[in-house]
Amino acid sequence: MKILNESEAVALSAPFVYTLISSLDREGRPNVMGASWATQTSFQPFLWLISIDRRRYSHAGIDMHKEFVLHFPSEEQAEAAWVCGTRSGRDEDKIKSSGFRLLPSRSVKVPTIDGVTAAFECRVVNQIETGDHTVFVGEVVGISGSPEKARHLFVSSDRKLFAVAGTGKQ
Ligand SMILES: Cc1cc2nc3c(=O)[nH]c(=O)nc-3n(C[C@H](O)[C@H](O)[C@H](O)COP(=O)(O)O)c2cc1C
Repeated sequence: MKILNESEAVALSAPFVYTLISSLDREGRPNVMGASWATQTSFQPFLWLISIDRRRYSHAGIDMHKEFVLHFPSEEQAEAAWVCGTRSGRDEDKIKSSGFRLLPSRSVKVPTIDGVTAAFECRVVNQIETGDHTVFVGEVVGISGSPEKARHLFVSSDRKLFAVAGTGKQ
């Protein structure tokens, strides 16, 4: 074992799951961002947490409306998903530039991205400031998905997206 610096250790802990978070901005317009820092954090109630940098355009909208949808994008969505993780809704309409089709969600005002592997509609029930990020804890109030698109996206230490199925079938 060696002593490592932070970036060496983070690179060695890759790959990370790559999710997409949809939200409404302060004017009620939909936006989507990429996020690796997302995890389930309770079975009962069914909770997910996401960790969002306070500088993100999405942050203000989630903080205001207290809703988001967490998606696991499918393999064929890699290019559009990368647009949402590398460009800001502050500068452009990423729904247009990604080409994502949005569907009405069942239980929240924030729309769901069509064609993802799994989508969790969340209402914020708690939030915690953690350094330069805010952890938003979302209670799941609606779920949809595409079981035929089981391969979803991960990101490698050199920032390349690749798909893996969670079913054991590669
Ligand atoms: C692989 C990857 C993972 C990311 N994970 C996060 C994350 O967990 N939290 C976060 O705040 N930003 C994360 N980002 C950065 C945002 O997706 C990016 O800054 C995006 O442009 C924000 O969009 P917005 O300004 O429209 O909200 C990630 C980006 C990439 C490429």
